[in-house]
Amino acid sequence: SEEDLETHFERTIARDQRIEPRDWVPEGYRKTMVRQIAQHAHSEIIGMQPEGAWITRAPSLRRKAILLAKVQDEAGHGLYLYSAAETLGADRADLTQKLIDGKQKYSSIFNYPTLSFADVGVIGWLVDGAAICNQVPLCRSSFGPYARAMIRICKEESFHQRQGYELLMTMMRGTPAQREMVQDAVNRWWWPSLMMFGPPDHDSPNTERSMAWKIKRHTNDELRQRFVDMSVPQAEALGVTLPDPDLKWNADRGHYDFGEIDWSELKRVISGDGPCNAERVERRRKAHEDGAWVREAAAAYAAKRRESA
Ligand code: ACO
Repeated sequence: SEEDLETHFERTIARDQRIEPRDWVPEGYRKTMVRQIAQHAHSEIIGMQPEGAWITRAPSLRRKAILLAKVQDEAGHGLYLYSAAETLGADRADLTQKLIDGKQKYSSIFNYPTLSFADVGVIGWLVDGAAICNQVPLCRSSFGPYARAMIRICKEESFHQRQGYELLMTMMRGTPAQREMVQDAVNRWWWPSLMMFGPPDHDSPNTERSMAWKIKRHTNDELRQRFVDMSVPQAEALGVTLPDPDLKWNADRGHYDFGEIDWSELKRVISGDGPCNAERVERRRKAHEDGAWVREAAAAYAAKRRESA
């Protein structure tokens, strides 16, 4: 009966076991999981754009090869995550359409422009660093396919983070102009990186439910604090200043205090009004339309093979 199924589900969660696609889940759990996985997948796919813009302008063959590999990894993460969403009954074509129609979200961070090659390094260091901070706990998320996807994705994100940091280290050893480029990129990306973790806990409608279902393992503010604590010594090692005069060690808390985040900016960017939202979605729409013939050909080929089998 429905009651037995519900008990089984609650027990699985309580025992820290994984929910698998064959298992019965409450409709709310399915919805939340599809929402989060789809947003995550969309973020990976849209996230190819800001850095992809620098592939043709990378300063050396080595940097170009690294950047190409990284952007391809992101495509892989997106496809992997769409597959995880499909195990919950979602349809990939439908999810893509919702992204293009502005009916599903993707991470705010990818709506900012990449103005110099230093941005590639800072995205690796801060944006991928924040992504790792957020996603490592998701390796223990209650939904099996998502948690397993996170393990592989986090390994690749670690490589992305390292390549970014190494690129910045190299630039910091370069000319004063190069060091200035790095500092400028850090100034522009620091606050948006903190916003990636989502609204503050008192204004995060989904956290409580998602924590109870063990989809999320920490609150937005907990992970944001962890990221700040991790980044300060890295900034020092690099020789850059984080653009926050209120950033300082608090011995009582055992954490760094930091300044007030401009939540109105996050709201604006999430609601579609960030610096690059229109451009990102338009580019995605065009790529989708330009790829229609490939999908049609693949479907026709699959149908032919089914007939002859
Ligand atoms: N950008 C865009 N939307 C956001 C962001 C953000 N930075 N932060 C929160 N939101 C959205 C939420 O998706 C939610 O939208 P919805 O309810 O309309 O669907 C709303 O704002 C309220 O936020 P929360 O209640 O805090 O939502 P949630 O519990 O889902 O927490 C979080 C948000 C932390 C982003 C969570 O969904 C998550 O951990 N997702 C997986 C990681 C991910 O998607 N990363 C993508 C970027 S990293 C990368 O790809 C390199």
